[in-house]
Amino acid sequence: MYLSREEERILKGYEGEAKARALEVIVRVGEALGAPRLIEIKHAHISGVSYENIGDYGLELIEGFWRLGARFSVPTTVNPISYDSEDLTSIPGVTLSKPYVEAQEAIARALSGMGAELEFTCTPYYAGVLDRYELRMGDHVAWGESSAVAYANSVLGIRTNREGGPLALMAAIAGRTYYYGMHIDAERKPRVSYVLEAGRALEEAEAGVLGELIAEAHRDERPPHVVAAFGSDSSIKEFLAALGTVSDIAMAHIQGVTPEDPGGEVREVVRIPWRELEERLEEKMPGGPVDIAYVGCPHASLEELAKLARMLEEKGAPRAKIIVSMSRSVYMKALSLGLVERLRRSGVAIVRSSCLIVSPFSKHNKGVRLATNSYKAYHYLSRKGVKAYLARLEDLWKLI
Ligand code: F3S
Repeated sequence: MYLSREEERILKGYEGEAKARALEVIVRVGEALGAPRLIEIKHAHISGVSYENIGDYGLELIEGFWRLGARFSVPTTVNPISYDSEDLTSIPGVTLSKPYVEAQEAIARALSGMGAELEFTCTPYYAGVLDRYELRMGDHVAWGESSAVAYANSVLGIRTNREGGPLALMAAIAGRTYYYGMHIDAERKPRVSYVLEAGRALEEAEAGVLGELIAEAHRDERPPHVVAAFGSDSSIKEFLAALGTVSDIAMAHIQGVTPEDPGGEVREVVRIPWRELEERLEEKMPGGPVDIAYVGCPHASLEELAKLARMLEEKGAPRAKIIVSMSRSVYMKALSLGLVERLRRSGVAIVRSSCLIVSPFSKHNKGVRLATNSYKAYHYLSRKGVKAYLARLEDLWKLI
């Protein structure tokens, strides 16, 4: 791999041992993949910071770099943690022990010590990072949250591979990643197109099922090209999150959404009948009432909160508990717009900076019947022992 003089200096330890070690990992991975060189990044987003997910091993890795003197070379944001630090009781059934909270706090302290912005969200694009760090189409970043990666490449035109949590951490310290995959123009040009036939604009749960169908069918290394009508930005977010849940796809060229030229290399068109999508969704829907309804995986946008508040007011207070997860920034905006008050008045439990999947929720709620409009939440909660179902927000209302 070609390395600049500055990169050689970093590797030799002139900018500290931590940066040298981080860059060495990036170089090794890049060489294994056949990357010709490195590329400077403008921003990093680190996943895998919830103590629930990474445990003591992850804590030691992050703390170890901090103690070694590591500092992030670029603006860095991080994914959700294992609880809402402003309300430890917001996740039902979960009681947190002191050592558990201290371990999560140690992770946060180390990340902050290295220079991270502690927003704790998987939707950094709803939390103002694009303006704050002047991220624009064509910029190169290293993000580690699969749903955010797919949103960055597909909707924002910001370029990132799907970095694992540790690799995003190394890239943040080194300020660079390997020039490979989604960073390269030609690798972003689709060759297979998926056309959703007829139907209507997709709402969130339907969009998630489309993500599952395409992820299962797509075998090409290049991103899929997608022709479908999405009803809202949150539907696009759910589609991309599902795509990233079922496969390692880091981007979809969505007609009318993706802000770059798909090129002219499409050689295969796959048609998806609307009926197939509906049948898949029906298989995942609950047959009866549920105990909990969950919205906000990936973290909710203001638009989703407003829609939910409207529905609650139109249909009355529900019997089942409704839980919504979001970033602190979106929460603060919702608070100033009166949305938080409207949601709380309708009995909604709000979880900031965390979610039901990266928290200990499933450990304490085995067998609970839960419906969600998020394919990703449905997928992971099912695997963690919760009786999770997928449903349109509107249909979900009929069940509670
Ligand atoms: Fe975000 Fe948690 Fe879903 S981190 S993408 S809300 S699993």
